[in-house]
Amino acid sequence: MVKKVAVIVGSLRKDSWNRKLASVLMQLAPPTISMEFVEIGQLPLYNQDLDNNPPQAWVTFREQMKKFDGVLFATPEYNRSVPAPLKNAIDVGSRPYGQSIWNAKPGAVISASPSAMGGFGANHHLRQCFVFLDIYCMPQPEAYIARVDTLFEADGSVSKPETREFLQKFIDTFAQWVNRKWD
Ligand code: FNR
Repeated sequence: MVKKVAVIVGSLRKDSWNRKLASVLMQLAPPTISMEFVEIGQLPLYNQDLDNNPPQAWVTFREQMKKFDGVLFATPEYNRSVPAPLKNAIDVGSRPYGQSIWNAKPGAVISASPSAMGGFGANHHLRQCFVFLDIYCMPQPEAYIARVDTLFEADGSVSKPETREFLQKFIDTFAQWVNRKWD
């Protein structure tokens, strides 16, 4: 059976490199997974006071995420950590207590930056959340895409053969990871 994967981008920027990277991964994905963007920019900031009367956007997001078997995060690094909209989506999805949408889902992280470190800090801060949330995070291959601003052609493709090969390996391994027997 084809497994459904939610793709969550940590940047809200229209021309986000991380969104472009996620789009390339979606094109390279094998037929054993189907991938779909899930947006997070519309989610009001998490506030525990609203737990008994949650904003509609939180309810819709939580409902929407239920249909997915796995989740792929493509994120930039903001000040060596996870961008606020992404952390907010993580928190919104983790409540109400005991009903977290993240629980026991296979996941993976790819981070990208125009700098040389490829968003390593954000990538690992996100993984730290996964330990508590019980997201089964794919350990290898790690994906820190440096100099992301130099990667894309005008049509959005990645022409550098070694980067394409790496992205192919990453998404193939993730497809196998999602298709493992988890329960
Ligand atoms: C950044 N940027 C950045 N880059 C990095 O490698 N490490 C960092 O800690 C930060 N910190 C940071 C903070 C804030 C508030 C902004 C706006 C930017 C630069 C960042 O990598 C760059 O803007 C990317 O292009 C963002 O990713 P998207 O939006 O292109 O996906």
